Amino acid sequence: MEKAGLYIHIPFCERKCHYCDFTSIPGNKDLKDRYEEYLIREILLASSIYGNLKIETVFIGGGTPSVIHENSIRRIMNTIRRCFTLDSDAEVTIEINPGTLTVDKAKIYRESGINRASVGIQSMDDGILKRIGRIHNEQQVKDTLKILRLAGFENINGDLMFGLPHQSLKDFMETLEKTMLLDLEHISMYGLILEEETLLYNWYNRGLVSMPTEDEERDMYHTGIDFLESKGFRQYEISNLSREGFECRHNLGYWRLESYIGLGLSSHSSMGGRRYWNHSGFSNYFNKLDAGDLPIEGEEIISNDLLEAEYLILGIRLKEGLSIEDYEKRFKLSFMGKYGEVIHRHEASGLIELIDGRIKLTRKGMDLSNQVEIDFLP
Ligand SMILES: C[S@@+](CC[C@H](N)C(=O)[O-])C[C@H]1O[C@@H](n2cnc3c(N)ncnc32)[C@H](O)[C@@H]1O
Ligand code: SF4
Repeated sequence: MEKAGLYIHIPFCERKCHYCDFTSIPGNKDLKDRYEEYLIREILLASSIYGNLKIETVFIGGGTPSVIHENSIRRIMNTIRRCFTLDSDAEVTIEINPGTLTVDKAKIYRESGINRASVGIQSMDDGILKRIGRIHNEQQVKDTLKILRLAGFENINGDLMFGLPHQSLKDFMETLEKTMLLDLEHISMYGLILEEETLLYNWYNRGLVSMPTEDEERDMYHTGIDFLESKGFRQYEISNLSREGFECRHNLGYWRLESYIGLGLSSHSSMGGRRYWNHSGFSNYFNKLDAGDLPIEGEEIISNDLLEAEYLILGIRLKEGLSIEDYEKRFKLSFMGKYGEVIHRHEASGLIELIDGRIKLTRKGMDLSNQVEIDFLP
C-alpha cells in the first residue's frame, strides 16, 4: 500500500498577528461551518482518487486549528480514519494557539487520536507578544501546557520566534529560560521574516519599529541553539530541535521528499512525481468542490533535475546532512563527479564539511546555507 503524510489546513485565526502572511482570516461561524463541510467533501474525494493510502503522519495546521469547534476536529479525524488507513503508530499533530484551548478541546483531541500538539509560544515576554500582535500572554502559554499535559499529551512542540521588534539577546535568552520550565519535547526556533503586506513590514518601512541587526539576530540563533543543546535538546534541522526520539516525523517526511497530500485551502501536495496546490480563496475552493473536482489551482511536474535539486537543498538543511551513498542510489550518478568542485569550494570557505560519507553544513554554513543551496540548482 502506498504511504503518505497528510496535511489538513484550517484557515482561521482569532485575529491576524502583525507579522504573519499565512492563509488565515478570523472568519465567522457560518464560514467555519461551510468550510468544514467542504473539507470533509475534499477528504472523501481525495480518498476516492488515491485509493487506500497508508497515512503515517497527519498534521492539522493553519491558521489556528484550535479556534474551530472541537467536534469539527473530531469529525475531520473520523473522516480521515474512514477514508484512509491511518497507521496505528501514526504521528498526529494539531497546532494550537495559547488562549484558544479548553479542557474539553484537549480531551476530544486525544480521544480523536491526536497525539502531538504544536503550541505557538513565540515569546515568553508579554511586551513582545503584544508588539507582534499575539492574542495571548505568558500565563496563557503556561495554562495551555497544563491543559495539554492533563489531557495526556506526551509529545509537545513549542514554536518560538527570534529577531523580533526591539528584542535583545537577553530578552530571547529569558524566553528560552522560561520555556525550559514548560518541559517540552520539541522546539522550533524561527527567525522573523518580514513578509511584505504585513502590518509589521509596513511599520518597519515607515520607521515605526526597530529590528535587531543581522549580527544580533544571528547571535540569538547560535546562542539559542547552544543553550538548548546544553539542556539536552538535539538540533536535527536548521530550525528544529528535539529530545531524543521526538523529531517531527511529518516534517522529516517533507524534507526527505516523501509523498504527502495537503487538503484544505492553499495546501500543497506531492504525489507520484506530481506537485499541485489548492486554491487559496474560499469561493474558488468551494466552487471547484461544488463541481465535483478537487480544488486544485495549479500543478508542476517535477523534472528529475528539480527533484535532485530539492533532494540536495532540503537534505543539507538536516543536521545529519546528505548521504552520498543515498544520493547515488537514488539518482544513479556519481555525487563527486557532478558536485566535486562545488563541495571542495564550500569546504575551503568553511561552509560545509565531509564526514563519513555525508555532507554537512558547518555552523557558519547554517547562517549562509543559501550560498551552498544555490549551487545545487539545475
Ligand atoms: C503556520 S504558523 C501557525 C501557528 C499558530 N497559528 C500560532 O501562531 O500559534 C507556524 C509558525 O510559523 C512561525 N511564523 C509565522 N509567521 C512567521 C514569520 N513571518 N517569520 C518567521 N516565522 C513565522 C510561527 O512561529 C508560527 O508558530
Ligand atoms: S501566526 Fe498563527 S495565529 Fe498568528 S495569524 Fe499566523 S497563523 Fe494565525
